[in-house]
Amino acid sequence: METNERLLLMIPGPTIVDPKVLRAMSKPIMPHRGKEFSEMFLEQAERMKQVFRTKNDLFLLAGSGTAAMDAAVSNTIKPGEKVLCIVSGKFSERFTEIVKCYGGEALELNFEWGKEIDVNKVKEALDENNDIKAITVVHNETSTGVKNPIKEIGKIVKETNALLIVDTISSLGGDNINVDEWNIDLCATGSQKCLAIPPGIAAISISEKAWNVIEKTNGYSYYLNLKKYKKHKHHAPYTQPVSMVYGLKVALDMIFEEGLENRIERHRKLAKATREGVKGMGLKLFPEKEEICSNTVTSLRVPKGMNDKKIREIMKDKYNIVIAGGQAHLKGKIMRIGHMGNVSKRDILCTLAALELALKEVGFKIELGNGVRKAQETMDGE
Ligand SMILES: Cc1ncc(COP(=O)(O)O)c(C=O)c1O
Repeated sequence: METNERLLLMIPGPTIVDPKVLRAMSKPIMPHRGKEFSEMFLEQAERMKQVFRTKNDLFLLAGSGTAAMDAAVSNTIKPGEKVLCIVSGKFSERFTEIVKCYGGEALELNFEWGKEIDVNKVKEALDENNDIKAITVVHNETSTGVKNPIKEIGKIVKETNALLIVDTISSLGGDNINVDEWNIDLCATGSQKCLAIPPGIAAISISEKAWNVIEKTNGYSYYLNLKKYKKHKHHAPYTQPVSMVYGLKVALDMIFEEGLENRIERHRKLAKATREGVKGMGLKLFPEKEEICSNTVTSLRVPKGMNDKKIREIMKDKYNIVIAGGQAHLKGKIMRIGHMGNVSKRDILCTLAALELALKEVGFKIELGNGVRKAQETMDGE
């Protein structure tokens, strides 16, 4: 199979992997139960805690981000128990599916996709149902480009017996996540987004409050039984994805060389520049307010009468740049530009320039350069 090595991936994951990471992943395989690998494996889990900003236990799991979401639910929820699932997009919907899959009762608290979560409604739901065992929520809803108020939700959940389960799959390593400060009991992430490693490794952090529940629950997943991960602390109960761990090590080196704060700031600034660029072209952002826009993915409305598939095709075929379309009922209605991981100013400017050209080609009234100029003007500012 031919791969296009020049393709600029501006989708919300998987993201472009640095050649240094790819080279590390091609190194010979070490014995996965040996001392050398074990030390390296544990070291990466410790370093991941810094990215999570947590002192809680953290395990690396073989699997994509969904494995960590699955582990969070399957280890804490018994059949028949109630889980409050905050739903405002495709990935928060996934949590309800996982809860149901393990026999839990998913109480859906729905918010319109693209709109802000009303934290008061979360409080009301918790007050009305004091037997809720856990709350699931997605920090960065990749399907809509909306960032959710985890800190505020954490303050409410802390005062209850319920566990706070958060998906940070498309934000960890690119936006602020403060697991301990925000009282996140189980935090799930994956490798192929802001961490900029290929898909295939996930991570989960587990608070004391969560362990107390896990110890009393007969984990319903065999492979993702967290009690086994705790017992086999020095490696993992099953064969680890050795090459992925090599890649993770170099990716974490890169994160700490840049500095986590600087990395988050880079994402914030590039997200702002992308939004300004999009608006400068005469397009509308999808989220209802700019304050709730994600720092890792920008979603924008497809202009009336335009075919987003055609726009994206032109961008790919003529300019070697891929952006994403909408999911579920937003298919054909929105487009999404991912700007996470190793994304640079150059990547944003190229993407916006290609988007302008593609829009012009499909007949959208546009003055070329307006969007790019707006992004250029905003790029280094606040
Ligand atoms: C917010 C969010 N949650 C969950 C997932 C699913 O992750 P994975 O495909 O790594 O299992 C994604 C992937 O796009 C995501 O963006």
